[in-house]
Amino acid sequence: MTEERRKKKKKKGMNTMILHSPFPFRIKASRSSTPIKASSSSTPIKDVAVESKPLRRGGFCSCGRRHFLEGAAASCLPIRPSKASEASQSDYVTVLNRVHPPRPDWYEEFYASVINSSMKAYEAEISGYKSKLFNNLGKDAKKVMEIGIGTGPNLRYYGSDADVQVFGIDPNKKMEKYAKEAAMAAGLPLANFKFIQAVGEAIPLSDASVDAVVGTLVLCSVKDVDATLRELMRVLKPGGIYLFVEHVAAKDGTILRLIQSVLDPLQQTVSDGCHLTRETGKNILKAGFSGVDLSNIFLSNASIVSPHVYGIAHK
Ligand SMILES: C[S@@+](CC[C@H](N)C(=O)[O-])C[C@H]1O[C@@H](n2cnc3c(N)ncnc32)[C@H](O)[C@@H]1O
Repeated sequence: MTEERRKKKKKKGMNTMILHSPFPFRIKASRSSTPIKASSSSTPIKDVAVESKPLRRGGFCSCGRRHFLEGAAASCLPIRPSKASEASQSDYVTVLNRVHPPRPDWYEEFYASVINSSMKAYEAEISGYKSKLFNNLGKDAKKVMEIGIGTGPNLRYYGSDADVQVFGIDPNKKMEKYAKEAAMAAGLPLANFKFIQAVGEAIPLSDASVDAVVGTLVLCSVKDVDATLRELMRVLKPGGIYLFVEHVAAKDGTILRLIQSVLDPLQQTVSDGCHLTRETGKNILKAGFSGVDLSNIFLSNASIVSPHVYGIAHK
């Protein structure tokens, strides 16, 4: 190959990066990347990459219909777990678009506002469990990543700690403003809170970069539970902890389990991919943590999502 051809090939590759794809077509990287510093007052986390621009709209119309089609096709591709040391910004964006195909803005906003306003009774009932659980964070958990942070209902439990830094991961950018409001209400300075648009299946943080991971009501919604757990494990420091609260399938043979099975497809459609029949506790127990302390609870006010698991897993 001549020197000139080699240069041309390199340039083309940079414009249309899609890594790890076994398929013979390319998806254009649709966002630019900027490395972030975790906060001005602390050591920057190396290799953290954050999307700084919204998804580029396609050529059809502003309602995003084209993205639904692109997303539907892309979501058939297998998910490959990333390794941050090898992955680039375009990997995270590619997996984000594959796992959580861009929805129209109005839909993302609608879902965010519904979550923001409809969870109050639930949060009141679960608060006793959450208070105890989040006590485990202690003073040493200075870098916390929350996966599927949504509107930030957990920040009140750990955000007031003087120098905690929080990375809130969520594919729905419209959650950001609610999460920031929750951060401010919790006393967490916005300089110490970073919302990152990404999915649990490909987290744009370095290996062993956080002291703790928090996840509540999110493994019901991710596309690949095991890939997400692998990513959580990867970003956790050795000795780090993962705190979880998840709704799960009711016991086999119960009427509630039957109802969950019947309503599961509808739930996925109306609740942005939320599954009712996952046995998430089993996934967590098998994920390779050195120890898992898991409890089952049944909430009285949560109707078809009453059965829960919650607990703490140690890396
Ligand atoms: C039911 S809400 C729960 C939000 C929040 N954790 C709470 O406890 O209220 C599920 C959240 O998971 C997010 N989500 C969906 N798919 C995800 C994925 N693949 N990775 C990470 N978060 C995801 C949604 O955008 C939403 O914010």
